[in-house]
Amino acid sequence: MHFKAAVFDGPGTPLAIEELSVESPRFGEVLVRMTASGVCHSDYHVVLGEWGAKFPLVLGHEGAGVIVETGPGVSGLQIGDAVALSWTPSCRRCRYCVSGRPQLCSNAVANAYRNVLPDGTTRLRRNDDQVYSYLSVGSFAEYAVVPESGAVRIADGVDPAIAALVGCAVTTGVGAAINTAPVAPGSTVAVIGAGGVGLSTIMGAALQAPERIIAVDLSDEKLDLARRAGATHTVHARDTDVVEAIKDLTGGDGVDHAFEAIGRAETIEQAYASLAPGGTAVVVGQVPTGVKISIDPMVMSGRELTLTGSNYGSSRPSIDFARILGLHSRGLLPLDLLVDRRIQLQDINTAFDAMGQGTAARTVIEFP
Ligand SMILES: NC(=O)c1ccc[n+]([C@@H]2O[C@H](COP(=O)([O-])OP(=O)(O)OC[C@H]3O[C@@H](n4cnc5c(N)ncnc54)[C@H](O)[C@@H]3O)[C@@H](O)[C@H]2O)c1
Ligand SMILES: [Zn+2]
Ligand SMILES: [Zn+2]
Repeated sequence: MHFKAAVFDGPGTPLAIEELSVESPRFGEVLVRMTASGVCHSDYHVVLGEWGAKFPLVLGHEGAGVIVETGPGVSGLQIGDAVALSWTPSCRRCRYCVSGRPQLCSNAVANAYRNVLPDGTTRLRRNDDQVYSYLSVGSFAEYAVVPESGAVRIADGVDPAIAALVGCAVTTGVGAAINTAPVAPGSTVAVIGAGGVGLSTIMGAALQAPERIIAVDLSDEKLDLARRAGATHTVHARDTDVVEAIKDLTGGDGVDHAFEAIGRAETIEQAYASLAPGGTAVVVGQVPTGVKISIDPMVMSGRELTLTGSNYGSSRPSIDFARILGLHSRGLLPLDLLVDRRIQLQDINTAFDAMGQGTAARTVIEFP
């Protein structure tokens, strides 16, 4: 079968809409017809050359679709099922999966993070050349073959744009606040960076009834969205000392939970420096390969500070996607405000322009 995909041949070239072919799903795999895909900063890191990858590559890892074919051995999904895609297709066997931490699955790290399927191969071809699928998803395409555990059944009737965002930004951000931290009722929170992931972190924190949520960003538009997502206070980072501003808003103490949702050394250091004694800083943003941070270990011990990381919101996609969509349908997570622009696949490069300018919360590709 042939279909259209946005193919990336490496940094410095725009994504190009091309015809690819796809093989039928093999053992434990499914073929998905994409209905929507979000554009995440983790795709942009690859576009900018900040993270290495093999090319040609179909980017996109925040997708939703419908099952159109199941491979041998697939028992949990049927043709016609609506799914949101997970970029950590867990093996369900390794020590991390078995101990309830599938977001750390060692087999997903070994294969999906190298942009191949669990058997180490790919299903996409451009003429005779193999084409990689980003994080075993590759959602900037009309079709994708993914591992069964990478396609999570969701209820019928969910807006595909919302389902797609649950595939990355929402689960990452909400999960960082409710699973990784987790934010305690009555505590104080700062979220540095209010893009798709940071706004979701604010929404997740707001569920936990904190005393205040301080959002920090460089864009007035994002800070406005942050207020609608649940932030009680905002700090414009340009021309402001962010750490001082957070301390001023917390009676000089600092915050109990600080989240960094950008992926820069400077802002991770700000999150850590904004903590009250006993506080926890959660690194959600992902830095360009090789970037290091500097912290003062004397302060860490003296004030009992915790610095931790969060991958995929410490979530278990097979149960958390439905949990999050349930909270949305009950009006408890205003996910709709994340969908800023809806575009067609051929306009994919404009999504990266908007991300570079920091304007759109999320651009979502819709497939007719
Ligand atoms: N840990 C995970 O599992 C995980 C999952 C998805 C994405 N990520 C990472 O999270 C980060 C954020 O992703 P996103 O899609 O929300 O990005 P985004 O581009 O949508 O948002 C980033 C936001 O940071 C703001 N910003 C930039 N520099 C700033 C500064 N110096 N001070 C304050 N604000 C600043 C921008 O204005 C923008 O609103 C990326 O590094 C991405 O790779 C991590
Ligand atoms: Zn992502
Ligand atoms: Zn595993």
